[in-house]
Amino acid sequence: MDNVSNVPQHVAIILDGNGRWAKAKGMPRSYGHVQGGKVLEDILVDADDIGIRYLTVYAFSTENWNRPADEISALMGLLKNYLKTSIKKCMKNNVRCRVIGDKSGLSEELQEAIAKMEEATAGNTGLTFTIAINYGGRDEITRAVKKVAAKVESGELKASEITEKMIADNLDTFDMPDPDLLIRTCNEQRISNYLLWQCAYTEFYFTPVAWPDFNREELLKAVEAYGNRTRKFGGLKT
Ligand code: FPP
Repeated sequence: MDNVSNVPQHVAIILDGNGRWAKAKGMPRSYGHVQGGKVLEDILVDADDIGIRYLTVYAFSTENWNRPADEISALMGLLKNYLKTSIKKCMKNNVRCRVIGDKSGLSEELQEAIAKMEEATAGNTGLTFTIAINYGGRDEITRAVKKVAAKVESGELKASEITEKMIADNLDTFDMPDPDLLIRTCNEQRISNYLLWQCAYTEFYFTPVAWPDFNREELLKAVEAYGNRTRKFGGLKT
């Protein structure tokens, strides 16, 4: 265990640079995703060891459907394989695994694999590992608003009674705290429709390291940078 103080409770990661990393090696983009998946398995153990309680990763966005068909099918295959083969590992490490995003847009096989993984690990009390698949922040907020609007339509609720908490309670992340730290790899400094509602007060950390080269040391650097910041929630710095 490393000596880190002020560990963020919830870390969200935009795993970027798999394609560029593979291309630089003269390999197909899917090779970068395979390597990225392996790195993620190690980071999960490192995050738990450092004391992080929630790890949420962006595996496939609502916009990723615009990628070439062979890359989409490689990514979906990788996710399905991960969900099927990692149950044992999650049980061994007491990890609760869940998926956020619009699952109805995924293949039946993938939906089944997600349900099995979520059910098997639901009672685990260690790190909560959340995978965003077919996820978009705007889509998630729209789905939440539709659920609240349905209550207004049925007369259960007045529009004037809608609160922020009602929206938050209808997001896919309803049972999780907001991320304290968001890490994005490979030199990109955008939010890309990720956890838009939840990142209202999140600290951002950007690194030039491509995701397949990310490791425990890089995670520790991000956590240390976070630990040195003074968080502000709209009030004055103390
Ligand atoms: C971004 O790299 C990465 C993705 C779109 C997919 C991330 C998925 C994995 C790491 C697969 C494994 C995931 C799990 C949960 C097992 P990019 O393709 O956008 O890279 P580029 O910007 O260099 O093109």
